[in-house]
Amino acid sequence: DYMKNRTPKNFPPTPFRLPFLGHLYLVNFKDPVASVKRVSKRYGDIFGMHMGSMKLVMVSGMRLVKEVLVNQGEKFMDRPDLPLDEEIFSKMGLISSTGHLWKAQRRFTLTTLRNFGLGKRSLEERIQEECQYLVDAFRDEQGNPFNPQFKVTNAISNVICSLIFGNRFEYHDEDFQRLLKLMYDTIVLHGAITSQLYNNFPSIMKYLPGAHQTIFKNWRVLKKFMQEQINKHKEDWNPSECRDYIDSYLLEISKDNGSDTFQEEHLTACTLDLLVAGTETTSSTLRWALLFMATYPEIQARVQAEIDAVIGQARPPALEDRNNLHYTNAVIHEVQRKGNVIPFNVPRMASEDTHLDGYYIPKGTIVMTNLTSLLFDKSEWETPDAFNPEHFLKDGKFCKKEYFIPFSVGKRACLGEVLARAELFLFFTSLLQKFTFQVPPDTKLSLQPMIGIAMAPQPYKICAVPR
Ligand code: HEM
Repeated sequence: DYMKNRTPKNFPPTPFRLPFLGHLYLVNFKDPVASVKRVSKRYGDIFGMHMGSMKLVMVSGMRLVKEVLVNQGEKFMDRPDLPLDEEIFSKMGLISSTGHLWKAQRRFTLTTLRNFGLGKRSLEERIQEECQYLVDAFRDEQGNPFNPQFKVTNAISNVICSLIFGNRFEYHDEDFQRLLKLMYDTIVLHGAITSQLYNNFPSIMKYLPGAHQTIFKNWRVLKKFMQEQINKHKEDWNPSECRDYIDSYLLEISKDNGSDTFQEEHLTACTLDLLVAGTETTSSTLRWALLFMATYPEIQARVQAEIDAVIGQARPPALEDRNNLHYTNAVIHEVQRKGNVIPFNVPRMASEDTHLDGYYIPKGTIVMTNLTSLLFDKSEWETPDAFNPEHFLKDGKFCKKEYFIPFSVGKRACLGEVLARAELFLFFTSLLQKFTFQVPPDTKLSLQPMIGIAMAPQPYKICAVPR
């Protein structure tokens, strides 16, 4: 194993390595963004690290991030074989599959989601309806301090659930709430030190207690829930009338006899991936939005004034309004920039030996692209560390920014970007149309993130005062 662990010739600059721990000592698990910033300040836009027997490269700055995701995209299209992921996803589904299987599942999923968006009961209407449920649930709190987390998460996940199962879950459905809580806890546990130790030393950690053991147990529960939903669909499945994603996939399985692409196992993995990828990211972003609005009341007041002028109070917001709500749109973009929910993108792997910036990157190297370095680039943003919607405005009009890529770019960028942006716009404007968000009396809200798979705000209580 010594040879395997050696740093190859011309590998990117690599910080000093401790015996046994390797580079783990460099990572402050409470604030990985600060750790990476510190190391890249010293070593530059590309540096190497070791994770157990695997090599890892962190790439920062627009030029190199684009090189990985776009220019040399084909060589970095795969996901790494992280021990923790392997145990859970085993290379199936949408997020961690590769090659032909990934292409086929991704293409099918994009087409199917598009079909349901254009269907009779359009996706936009479905989101608008869910916005109404969420507004009602917030109104029930009567302006008293409450933690919006599980209502928001339930609402967001209901949009995905209607796409994949054809139904939503009531906010007081205890079984579903338990499942959402489990999903959230699991994502937070992924940020725990023992989980990272598992990725570094799986053969030892396998026998030790720690977050990784709870993670495995939780994923089994989530998988079982999906399998039950799929079994229910099989009972009353009618191939001539596809109600949702599961029905459409079952049709694909029936057509795909013998090939190993469309199988029930893969269906479970795909639906689980959609639920996991689509829920916590979007929910965290919306919770950041409420937190920023309560923290910056003058910005909130401008958003509300714009909503009142363009939409009024009589009808629900629609996607079409996006073109006329310049300030609101800028605020939502700034929430995503400053919220920085996926700070280092989802890891990729080099599928062949290659070079980056003149350095040698051997096949199998994990490649992380530092999206934070773009979202906070000093030469691109006037006040990178401040919450400042002016970053996305020019002469009062919304303007796009090249450095704004929270969904990543290239052929393997976020599959749900269009859906996520529709949800963020409709939920945010529907809530601000009806409520003013306030910090509860004698409280200070923290803007310090929690670390997991996604960077969520710390749990908080807030007042939704009816307007
Ligand atoms: C992948 C961000 C919402 C489904 C990703 C990636 C990022 C991301 C950075 C990795 C892309 C890469 O490797 O280059 C976000 C953010 C969201 C969001 C910030 C919300 C604010 C959603 C939603 C869905 C979704 C609503 C549901 C349809 C996926 C899937 C992948 C993915 C399936 C894996 C794609 C693949 O490997 O081919 N997302 N996402 N995401 N996202 Fe999202």
